[in-house]
Amino acid sequence: MAIERTLSIIKPDAVAKNVIGEIYTRFEKVGLKIVAAKMMHLSQEKAEGFYAEHKERPFFKDLVSFMTSGPVIVQVLEGENAVLTHRDLMGATNPAEAAAGTIRADFAQSIDENAVHGSDSVESAAREVSYFFADDEVCARTR
Ligand code: TYD
Ligand code: MG
Repeated sequence: MAIERTLSIIKPDAVAKNVIGEIYTRFEKVGLKIVAAKMMHLSQEKAEGFYAEHKERPFFKDLVSFMTSGPVIVQVLEGENAVLTHRDLMGATNPAEAAAGTIRADFAQSIDENAVHGSDSVESAAREVSYFFADDEVCARTR
């Protein structure tokens, strides 16, 4: 299986709930390694650019307002099949439909405040990682 990288964001609702460590533990338990991480408070421009693919959707304005409502933690996860492994850990976009034991089932309250982001393909992961991190901010984890 291929070693991949994926972009993960712990969103403002989950940071406010103080469950950063619990979410990191889930990454570590399935063997995903954190190879870059930072806390930041997204500007409106940064959030709009990140979610540009959803610009025409009815929820776009609320999504940007939520994502800029408090700090987030952004990280790059590396591991076998990282994109799908991470999406499985996250659960469905709507926490009401997320499988039991997933991050969204356990920590999210609604579809618009759903605790975490994860890249949906290897291609979007590459774009999203470079949206937040310079090449030299992503570390090699050789042991
Ligand atoms: P999307 O990329 O479809 O979901 P995911 O985060 O699982 O990849 O949508 C991006 C975010 O937009 C989603 O996490 C929360 C928000 N959103 C809504 O607020 N309402 C909606 O109906 C949808 C589809 C998404
Ligand atoms: Mg998405």
